[in-house]
Amino acid sequence: MNVTFAASRPADTAVLALPVAKDGVAALAPAGFDEAALATLTAAAAGQRFTGAEGTVAEAYVSANGVAQRVLLLGVGSGDDANFERAGGALTARLLTSGVKAVTVDLSGATGEPQAAARLAAGAAQRAWRYDVYRTKLAEEARATLEQITVVGAPDGTDAAWQARDALTQGLALTKTLVTLPPNILYPESFVELVTKEVDGLGLEITVLDETAMRELGMGALLGVSQGSRREARILALHWKGGGDEAPVALVGKGVTFDTGGISIKPAAGMEDMKWDMGGAGAVAGAMRTLALRKAKANVIGVMGLVENMPDGNAQRPGDVVTSMSGQTIEVINTDAEGRLVLCDCITWVQREHKVKTIVDLATLTGAMIISLGNEHGGLFANDEALAQGLLAAGTASGDTLWRFPMGKAYDKLIDSAIADMKNVGPRGGGSITAAQFIARFVDEGVAWAHLDIAGMVWSEKDGPTWGKGATGYGVRLLDRFIADQHEG
Ligand code: BES
Ligand code: MN
Ligand code: ZN
Repeated sequence: MNVTFAASRPADTAVLALPVAKDGVAALAPAGFDEAALATLTAAAAGQRFTGAEGTVAEAYVSANGVAQRVLLLGVGSGDDANFERAGGALTARLLTSGVKAVTVDLSGATGEPQAAARLAAGAAQRAWRYDVYRTKLAEEARATLEQITVVGAPDGTDAAWQARDALTQGLALTKTLVTLPPNILYPESFVELVTKEVDGLGLEITVLDETAMRELGMGALLGVSQGSRREARILALHWKGGGDEAPVALVGKGVTFDTGGISIKPAAGMEDMKWDMGGAGAVAGAMRTLALRKAKANVIGVMGLVENMPDGNAQRPGDVVTSMSGQTIEVINTDAEGRLVLCDCITWVQREHKVKTIVDLATLTGAMIISLGNEHGGLFANDEALAQGLLAAGTASGDTLWRFPMGKAYDKLIDSAIADMKNVGPRGGGSITAAQFIARFVDEGVAWAHLDIAGMVWSEKDGPTWGKGATGYGVRLLDRFIADQHEG
């Protein structure tokens, strides 16, 4: 989708959208509309029970200078920024496959600030993302047609706000692509290839570790997971140095490009969902792209642990003991609890390689998290109060909401092993918490760490305000906002 900001409505505007605040229909006075056109508009709004509530849309055809014009009223409710974003999303949802190619949004009547204008445009652009590459027989009427959105009447300063929102939109697009791609196409090496291509020229320092390098570093936990796969594992690190000499914040993502469960194999029903078991790494990749695109004034390193978890004659067995890069040993009780085995070596590596003071990891780690929170919040675990509060606030502000869980000694001892330093699963109860306790054992003294279990958030069975059914891009808005609020300026 092409977004442009203009001083006045393009002469050939055939479809016009107007934001309307809650109960704001009576106050509508768009330029160029005569009494009759205005009467048609208000009657259409009433007839469609449109009140300006956020996210709703009403339509009418009016005659402007003898030419029929399609007009969409976009509800922005209370008029806060987030509602403008929703309105943009609703606009695209309505027009994307409608046959319409271009729409003009006139903000002249809205008392918006730059953020509102930028977010309306960004919401519209984000909602347009879809992946039709493998649809060779898509019916003509199911194809996306909307190509152009022209925003007029945006206040001064919208440009800078748009730069940041456009960067976010592009980060989200990368994440959604990664999450959507099928597992025969997206595997550790191709993940690296695609991401490095998408961030080329943005000024990120790129590090790739192959299995030989990981073996030399002693990453026995990560390599144990990968050992049953024909695909080689990779670690991809993207370093954005926009923050001078401050210690970098590390974002660490679980990137299991397909999770069969390994020898502790999963049931067949729904296993295809495990293509998005790389959603944590996908969010990190998208966030790093966003931060680099908007030249964030922060020092951030994104680390993605990329493996495929397969059953095979060479796969690791339940009962195996592996040695992690930290030196700690792990009894692998269940090969399906693989995410924590990948994350622990990534966390050790980033602590040794870069003197990080803050780590945020993101992972589709446990099915238990979906039992707890459904698809409305990501789960937050943290060893540091200020970090937890910063993330909760960024979650609320960005719309990628989080809910905090408890941790502690009593949970920690549930993963003690009879033969090794720890086992990779605890009892059935508190499965998301014991997973977090496992990761906590790899965090160095003095490092503020948070773990986000996003198993319920990466994929959606229904449309959202700024995404269609499928990949949501969860985590990108959150991380972008967290860095902006806590580590810039
Ligand atoms: N990737 C899964 C968790 C998951 C399940 C994410 C469903 C999204 C939807 C993870 O690797 C896993 O298999 N976890 C196990 C842990 C168990 C063996 C302790 C689980 O949740 O069942
Ligand atoms: Mn698993
Ligand atoms: Zn998994």
